[in-house]
Amino acid sequence: MDGDVHLGAMTTPSSATTPPPQRVALIVGAGNGLGRAIALAFAQTAVRVVAADLDLAAAQQTLTLAGPSANGLDLRLDIANPADSTAAVRSVTEKFGRLDILVNCAAVCLVDPLIDLTPERWDKVFAINARGAFFCMQAAATVMIPQKFGRIITISTPASHVGVPLFATYGASKAAVDSITKSAALAWAPHGITVNTISPGRMTGGMVDALDRDLARLTGQNLDELVASRTKTLPMGRRVDPAEVAHAALWLASDAAAYVTGERFNFTGGQELQ
Ligand SMILES: NC(=O)c1ccc[n+]([C@@H]2O[C@H](COP(=O)([O-])OP(=O)(O)OC[C@H]3O[C@@H](n4cnc5c(N)ncnc54)[C@H](O)[C@@H]3O)[C@@H](O)[C@H]2O)c1
Repeated sequence: MDGDVHLGAMTTPSSATTPPPQRVALIVGAGNGLGRAIALAFAQTAVRVVAADLDLAAAQQTLTLAGPSANGLDLRLDIANPADSTAAVRSVTEKFGRLDILVNCAAVCLVDPLIDLTPERWDKVFAINARGAFFCMQAAATVMIPQKFGRIITISTPASHVGVPLFATYGASKAAVDSITKSAALAWAPHGITVNTISPGRMTGGMVDALDRDLARLTGQNLDELVASRTKTLPMGRRVDPAEVAHAALWLASDAAAYVTGERFNFTGGQELQ
């Protein structure tokens, strides 16, 4: 999907003699799953990758997997703490002098029957998925606005606009992400910043494995049977590999998508048509 789009460097040289600066991407939640897949995909296109995660060892492992082409930086960041996002953006600009792309993949999904949901569990999910996601975007935008260039990619889910009674906080927090993505797109469009969301279908590994285990425990179902029956409901009869979804991030960050903002990119294999 990225085709021959040149993603690694800005297309407008700063002068006839200086090469265009290499683009710099901050990937939050880069230690696992989709964040790692996007970090690896960006590294392949000569973007400098900053891999940030609550789990620093996992972020470091991502950079190791990316190899020298990532040319990057690893950071520990708790997105629930806005000061961490501010500090991370400062570290990126101190090291590289710019920040072109922010992709935030960090999120949690807690399973709670609605009747048992506590304010503490609600707050935990919202602090990471919604509040944290916004203040990380805001920190990035403070650099992108004077730079007059930025690509911000948020991650949503089909669960943001349907009822999901056993993980309602997750769905509600991602509905907040959908909304703030549109507001940020409008607010920052005059500054050359695009803000879009990718809604992946059910991916292999990561969060879904943990979710399936929790659902099996809560409903008393056999785990293998639960996974098989949930997979059967998917139009393509399979979950999507995060590496497939990473193509959407490559495209949204590329020059080809310069006029695309406030959009939801469904990468759900038809799941949202049902
Ligand atoms: N897995 C799916 O099927 C699916 C479907 C739709 C949307 N999504 C969304 O895609 C994104 C990635 O999902 P995944 O399955 O790759 O998740 P994952 O659980 O595999 O990875 C999430 C990463 O975020 C990190 N993280 C968690 N809390 C953090 C915090 N407070 N600060 C910083 N980092 C933190 C974790 O350490 C982990 O490395 C999430 O936003 C998720 O909501 C996932």
